[in-house]
Amino acid sequence: MSFTVAIDGPAASGKGTISRAIAEHFGFAYLDTGLLYRAVGKKAMGFDCNPKAAAKLARELTADDLAADDLRSAEVAEAASKIAPIPEVRAALIAFQKTFAKQPGGAVLDGRDIGTVICPEADVKMFVTASAQVRAHRRFKELTDKGEAITEAQVLADIQARDARDAGRDIAPMVAAIDALVLDTSAMSITQAIAAAVDVIGEKWPVGNG
Ligand code: DC
Repeated sequence: MSFTVAIDGPAASGKGTISRAIAEHFGFAYLDTGLLYRAVGKKAMGFDCNPKAAAKLARELTADDLAADDLRSAEVAEAASKIAPIPEVRAALIAFQKTFAKQPGGAVLDGRDIGTVICPEADVKMFVTASAQVRAHRRFKELTDKGEAITEAQVLADIQARDARDAGRDIAPMVAAIDALVLDTSAMSITQAIAAAVDVIGEKWPVGNG
């Protein structure tokens, strides 16, 4: 039996941590769809990539590409957000995501367009968000803990530029599905946010609360 949880939201909203915790709690498979765009963005870095060439990079992604350890850098995030508006790139990544969502035993996918485009029929949809300042503070800590040399003001500017690009593009823009539960984590600890999400899913998951 398939059971799909679609989680969307902006960068550093906590959606990845919440999705991973949900997957672990309920035994669902987990796909961070941002990694697909990051892996394509990384490959496209450094040359002026036309839509056809970018789509080819997307079609040729391998498991190794998704496992690269530098995909979470600010530089790669920027590159991902630039190739993400290309319709041919998005089209090349759809089938994989849809198949992943339908696997038996349940799946949770997080991204920007999961509840609206990839899995409009998902069993549970959530839009996880937080103020840009709170998100910038979280991401700044994460990046500096990993040794990246960056200021908090720079992270905030990057996040605001990325939000504008992700929400403002014509194709599959970042937006809460009309039937999504909006979870604002600005004033929540990650433990509280996970507990809230687990409660919502526990009410719908027919097998029980984990
Ligand atoms: O979730 P993330 O920060 O890893 O995503 C990186 C970029 O990839 C993000 O700025 C926009 C793009 N993306 C997208 O367009 N659609 C998705 N489903 C996931 C990510």
